[in-house]
Amino acid sequence: MPLRSHIISTGSYLPKRVMTNSDLEKIVDTSDEWISQRSGIKERRIAAENETTSDLAISAARQALERSGLKPEDIDGVIIATTTPDQTFPAVAVKVQAALDIPAGIAFDVQAVCTGFIYALSIADNFIKNGQLKNVLVIGAEKMSSVLNWEDRTTCVLFGDGAGAVILQSQESDGNSGIYSTHLYADGRMADLLYTDGGVSSTGKSGHIIMQGREVFKNAVNLMAAAVEQALRENNITASDIDWLVPHQANSRIIESTAKKLGLSMDRVVMTVDHHGNTSAASIPLAFDEAVTKGDIKKGHLVLFEALGGGLTWGSALIRY
Ligand code: ACO
Repeated sequence: MPLRSHIISTGSYLPKRVMTNSDLEKIVDTSDEWISQRSGIKERRIAAENETTSDLAISAARQALERSGLKPEDIDGVIIATTTPDQTFPAVAVKVQAALDIPAGIAFDVQAVCTGFIYALSIADNFIKNGQLKNVLVIGAEKMSSVLNWEDRTTCVLFGDGAGAVILQSQESDGNSGIYSTHLYADGRMADLLYTDGGVSSTGKSGHIIMQGREVFKNAVNLMAAAVEQALRENNITASDIDWLVPHQANSRIIESTAKKLGLSMDRVVMTVDHHGNTSAASIPLAFDEAVTKGDIKKGHLVLFEALGGGLTWGSALIRY
């Protein structure tokens, strides 16, 4: 039987500090009403000043490893999706590898902003399917607070920090288990819709998020729905076969519009944006871990991930959990 990637465990970590909308009212000219109505966000977690993306990733990874029952030496790959690494190099992935005493294997970071986790999952899946890796830690981890301009009310109210992890294991499959397919897309002509106004080889600083919110919104609904439709078509299923949609948690209105476009009722959509905000690459694994831990997503459920982010990049992944 062919090899497929199976999610054998999940983990997550959220920084301790909760920042509510009323906390933000003290920083910028905004209101709980505006933020809730436009984005669905009520609160988000903000990392401590000395807490780095690798600290968040290590905690999430440790939990996923403990829950998997595997030993560190069983892990042969660590792939981290992040836009906010601790340093320009080395990768966050090698820090996680060292902290968990993983003695060998490959470790690297992937940069596809909010779609990063789906890109990382897809890369790991390909390594597994061709027999090169057996047990891969795939993590989305972000300290988005480090790239926010805390004087820009149009962006600073939307993002949060956190990390989520899964362990993918290579197992033989009869075609009804594990990752069915991943679909990745990018169109660099839309890079100006969402970017940071800095970087190591330009300004020497990471810069802050600049966003054309309305344009991103329009593209997010249309492109994510198209990515999902392609996943359904290629797997010969319909939206009614999906047990859970786990969308990138950017904005409740984007999530609701995409679900509506697909004819999916909201009781089959995981929604964590109200208490996580937009954690970029961390948002899907954080939401997935929460739904699995709560017992909403169960073994055997058909789960669809979808995301869109800066680049623009977007994509989907269909998985039997
Ligand atoms: N508080 C109060 N007022 C605000 C705030 C704020 N935080 N931010 C903007 N406003 C004001 C604007 O200045 C504007 O005022 P004006 O009419 O006097 O000029 C008014 O609110 C409306 O601003 P718009 O930008 O037109 O508001 P819109 O309805 O488009 O909502 C939002 C903005 C929430 C950003 C929306 O466009 C959106 O959700 N876009 C998607 C962007 C997104 O989620 N990006 C995340 C990254 S990409 C991704 O993860 C998919």
